[in-house]
Amino acid sequence: MNTPEVPSQDGPTESVVELRRSPVPRVGFDDEAPAAAAESAGAPAQAAPATEEPGLITQIREGYAFSGSALHFGAAVVDGVAYPDAPVRIPLSMMNRHGLVAGATGTGKTKTLQLMAEQLIEQGVPVFLADIKGDLSGMASPGESNSFIEKRIADIGLTWQPRAYPAEFFSLGGQGKGIPIRASVSQFGPILMSKVLGLNQTQESSLTLIFHYADSKGLWLDTLDDLRSVIQFLTSDAGKPELKEIGGISTATAGVILRELTAFGAKGADAFFGLPEFDSADFIRTRPDGTGVLSLLELPAVQNQPEVFSTFLMWLLADLFATLPEEGDLDKPKLVFFFDEAHLLFNGASKEFLNAIQQTVRLIRSKGVGVFFVTQSPKDVPADVLAQLGNRVQHALRAFTPDDQKALRAAARTYPHTEYDIETLLTSTGIGEAVITVLSEKGAPTPVAWTRMRSPQSLMDPSPDAVLDATIDASPLKSKYWEPLERESAYEMLEAEAAKRTAEEEQARIEAENQRIREAAAKQEEKERLAAEKAAERERIAAEKEAARRAKEDPGLVGSVVKSGAFRSMLRSAGTVIGREITRSILGNSRRR
Ligand SMILES: Nc1ncnc2c1ncn2[C@@H]1O[C@H](COP(=O)(O)OP(=O)(O)OP(=O)(O)O)[C@@H](O)[C@H]1O
Ligand SMILES: [Mg+2]
Repeated sequence: MNTPEVPSQDGPTESVVELRRSPVPRVGFDDEAPAAAAESAGAPAQAAPATEEPGLITQIREGYAFSGSALHFGAAVVDGVAYPDAPVRIPLSMMNRHGLVAGATGTGKTKTLQLMAEQLIEQGVPVFLADIKGDLSGMASPGESNSFIEKRIADIGLTWQPRAYPAEFFSLGGQGKGIPIRASVSQFGPILMSKVLGLNQTQESSLTLIFHYADSKGLWLDTLDDLRSVIQFLTSDAGKPELKEIGGISTATAGVILRELTAFGAKGADAFFGLPEFDSADFIRTRPDGTGVLSLLELPAVQNQPEVFSTFLMWLLADLFATLPEEGDLDKPKLVFFFDEAHLLFNGASKEFLNAIQQTVRLIRSKGVGVFFVTQSPKDVPADVLAQLGNRVQHALRAFTPDDQKALRAAARTYPHTEYDIETLLTSTGIGEAVITVLSEKGAPTPVAWTRMRSPQSLMDPSPDAVLDATIDASPLKSKYWEPLERESAYEMLEAEAAKRTAEEEQARIEAENQRIREAAAKQEEKERLAAEKAAERERIAAEKEAARRAKEDPGLVGSVVKSGAFRSMLRSAGTVIGREITRSILGNSRRR
């Protein structure tokens, strides 16, 4: 438990050095900072006179004085008063140690992402942001000042200049405004697919075996149709032996997965899966002027499918992990990935899935990618993942229920020792304020700092549609990803196999039928031949007799031989005609199929 300590103004951190500093301008309380909080959190009421700086401020100034490049969050606050010369910052070199931006709704999380993203781009770091509500699209348009911003910049001693940050807009499978991001089902893999389908443990392992089967047979799973057809095949008569061979999958489980897949597709998910597959390396680009490329995944159109987009975000992260090379310690990250509404990712997640997240997050750091999870409460994030997040920007937490209270106490315990009354502080910071601790350049936690955040310079509302449309049209990625691509994948391959199977069976039947007809014809012919021979013999004998009897009379016609030849030829052609009839009707069938 973190016991709040009474700050001592003559403690070891107070020194002549601090007293020599120029008096800090006290611009006053922010509108949104509750006065009660100002009194209860932080230094006690008998704090130093106006010209004397609180010890906390001195600590913070020193704790955040980095030598390398850094992002600026805002000014440290004690007793509700902002100290512009005690800036709270985060070293760029520590951005790949990941972070958490948390806070109740409306406390300023999204604006924090925005102001971080702006500075990252300016310093040449590419940024990926999931824009769930569409408000981050405002980054592509210059900001508009308001009384909050005016007061804020005066308060924390900054200048503010409206500025637009050119962006790339992406969408999931073309749903909404943006270059379509698609994944092939094969690439997406069974674990993520189980998560979006809401499968249980048994179903998940069955799906894993099905993917494995498809891989081993060279069946491309591009679309949901491909996956469906593999499962359909395995549960068909033709596929049953194969299903048995895979082992561990009951027909009933396969049936459930198939049903879930169909329902998922019907919800519009078909659009997300397929080719061309998105290459997440396209997020890692800089512009000719040296600024980082800002990639915004526009999600308002799929807002009501949170399980889907959060799983897709995870896929993008996993794809980055798979494609990026290992890097040593970098001065600045190669990409910062902001994962908004992260609680959706962890809701109802399987153990495998959580493990996959934890591993990806842990290992992606050495590939130069920083991941910032954004969510309402730190308790939304599993402890294993939370432990990987070195940087914290905590906006106000709400603690209405006993459960909330418990979560609050747990959150407070995770902060480094501080003179702030941390529990009070965590529930009482104003809008656009946060309790911050990050990793210093040496990797040690910085002092806890109540921070009045700066304001974004780009628009805090959605950009007009025209801005999005023009940007998308001009994007160099449009030609690469706009049109869906088809290729011979599992669906087509299995259909062709089935057609081939049917055709072969039919062919064998025709062969057998023709053979039967040929044999019958040969038998008949033989019979006819013998009959004809006999008749001829009879006729010969009769003729001889007749000749003998009626010597030198008219010779007779041997019509029976001619008749026999005509019959033979008729029989031969009969077999072929029947054969042709059967073939034609089969071709008709296969054409319809
Ligand atoms: N740093 C800031 N500068 C200026 N205004 C801010 C700042 N932070 C927050 N605000 C104001 O507070 C409002 C809410 O902030 P924001 O949208 O970031 O909240 P949020 O925590 O993302 O909420 P939600 O959870 O609902 O998405 C903003 O629309 C803006 O008016
Ligand atoms: Mg928000």
